[in-house]
Parts: sequence; structure tokens; C-alpha cells
Amino acid sequence: MPEQKLTYGIIGNPVKHSLSPVMHNTAFKALAVDAVYQLFPLEEDEVESFLKDVRKTSSPIFGLNVTVPYKEKVIPFLDALSPFAQKAMAVNTIVVEPDRHLIGHNTDGAGFLAHLAELQFDLKGKRIVVLGAGGTARSILTALCLLPQRPESIHLYNRTHQKAKGLVADLGKRMDVGMVAVEASIDDLNIELADLLINTTSVGLHSDDPCLVDDSLIHADMLVYDVIYRPALTPLLELAQARGAKTANGLGLLFYQGVLSFQHWSGMPLDAKIKQKMRRSLLTYA
Ligand SMILES: NC(=O)c1ccc[n+]([C@@H]2O[C@H](COP(=O)([O-])OP(=O)(O)OC[C@H]3O[C@@H](n4cnc5c(N)ncnc54)[C@H](OP(=O)(O)O)[C@@H]3O)[C@@H](O)[C@H]2O)c1
Repeated sequence: MPEQKLTYGIIGNPVKHSLSPVMHNTAFKALAVDAVYQLFPLEEDEVESFLKDVRKTSSPIFGLNVTVPYKEKVIPFLDALSPFAQKAMAVNTIVVEPDRHLIGHNTDGAGFLAHLAELQFDLKGKRIVVLGAGGTARSILTALCLLPQRPESIHLYNRTHQKAKGLVADLGKRMDVGMVAVEASIDDLNIELADLLINTTSVGLHSDDPCLVDDSLIHADMLVYDVIYRPALTPLLELAQARGAKTANGLGLLFYQGVLSFQHWSGMPLDAKIKQKMRRSLLTYA
């Protein structure tokens, strides 16, 4: 039987718009590694059996990314979690160990922090407002709450108030969430004193999406960060730029979480030149 190519990939639903194959296949090519990164669209009832197959010694799969809606759902099917994934209770990276044990990691939180560091935004003592309480907010809030140099405050707004309360209550079982205040309604958004506004909602993905933030609220002394990267300029970022605020989209987060995933799979840091090629590949397709 011909030997199957070393395989990596992303599981989720949908996955067809993912830019991860572009980034990781660029890295394999640049490193002259004979491996491929593929899309694995899965229905919910297929996740367990897919991961069971990955455990088999005959499987060519040595690493996976996990995206919506399975970042929490994969956890019962893994053997162990990294300390950060254990805190967040969300996994976006699976390492297949040589003994075929599956280890869950979360590189979204560290990817977000790495992008902010690149933007030279120091989080210590800052007043932060987060919009949204889904999977991305879970990883970002975990990263913020675990920072040794703590922000001053985090105000969390979500369309569904109960979901935001539930998220913070859950995180609070495993970390100090004392700096997080769950606000009652996104309609009463207060960002007057905010240094950093982070949109983690999916509002802005579609061309006819509204902007959740009234433009008069945005001021020039803040960084407005939108985790969405396609479109590169969401209505929120467009307004923020018009108001003179600094802005960033989520392409940097996508890049850094991908680099960190790759490093978990290979067990080695990536060379700066390879990282540059990965980033360029994203910029070409984003
Ligand atoms: N840059 C990156 O690398 C990266 C990584 C991950 C995700 N993302 C992006 O992040 C976004 C969120 O992903 P996710 O995994 O966190 O999704 P999710 O778990 O489904 O959460 C979606 C969030 O958006 C809110 N929302 C949805 N429609 C809304 C509306 N019409 N008005 C107000 N709020 C609304 C939801 O509020 P409710 O709780 O009320 O439903 C929830 O808070 C997506 O656009 C995704 O593409 C980017």
C-alpha cells in the first residue's frame, strides 16, 4: 500500500472559507516538508469517530486545528489539555503525540496577545471593553484575566446578557475574573474611558451588517480591534478610522495563532523567514 502523506488540517463547520491551509501549506513548502494541510468539514455526530480514527497508528494525521462550532465539543475526546486550554476550556489546536494520544491546546489567546504586542499596545492598567461572549471572547478573556500585568478593567457586552454572565461565571471557576463586569445591554455601550475596544462578535462579516457601536462614542485615544479579518475594514473599523482611533483587524490574530499551532505540531520555533512567508500568504488571500 502506498504510504499516505503526512497530514494536518482543520475540523469545523463550515471550514471552506478558512485561510489556514494557505498559511500552513506555505510553511510546509518553505521548509521542504512533504506534508499537506487539508479542510475537514464535519457534522457534529462525526467529530468523535473522526478523532477516534486519528488515534489509529495507520492515520496520516499528526495535527489539527479546531474551529467553530467544535472548540469546546472536542474536549471530551482528547487525552489531555495544555494549562491554558484547561483554563479556557476551549481548544483550537490538537497535537497527535507519537503514541497517538491527543493533546488539546489553545493558541487563540496567546495569538491575540502576540498581535497586541506587535502593535506595541501594553495591556497593563488599561480599560478594556469587549463586545461578544462566544468562543473567541472566551479565549481572549482567559488570556486577559491570566495576564500577570493586569488590565484595570474589562467591561463585557453581549446581545444575550445571560450568555455573557454564563461565560464569566464559568471562567470564574478556574481564574480570577474580578476585573470583568458583565454589562446589562449592548444598547447602553459606554466606551468613553476605554483604551481598547475589542469586537469578538460576528457582526461585520457581511457587507450589509450594521455597526454595533455609535460612531459618536469612538474617540481618538483608543485602539479598536476587530477579530474579523475578511472584510479587512469592517464598518466598525471604518468608523473608528474616521474618528481618528487606531485600528487593527484579526489577520494578525489569525497569523499568530497559526504560527503557535505549527510550533506545537513541530515542537520547534519557526524561523522568521518562514513566518514572513506565512504572513504574506495570508495577505495575498485575505
Ligand atoms: N481572527 C481570527 O483568527 C479569528 C479567530 C476566531 C474567530 N474569528 C471571528 O470571530 C467572530 C466570532 O467568532 P466566535 O467563534 O466567537 O463565534 P460565536 O461563538 O458564534 O459567537 C458569536 C458572537 O457574536 C454575537 N452576535 C452574533 N450576531 C449578532 C448580532 N446580530 N448582534 C449582536 N451580536 C451578535 C453573539 O451574540 P449572542 O451570544 O447574543 O448570540 C456572540 O457573542 C467570527 O466573525 C469569526 O470569524 C476570528
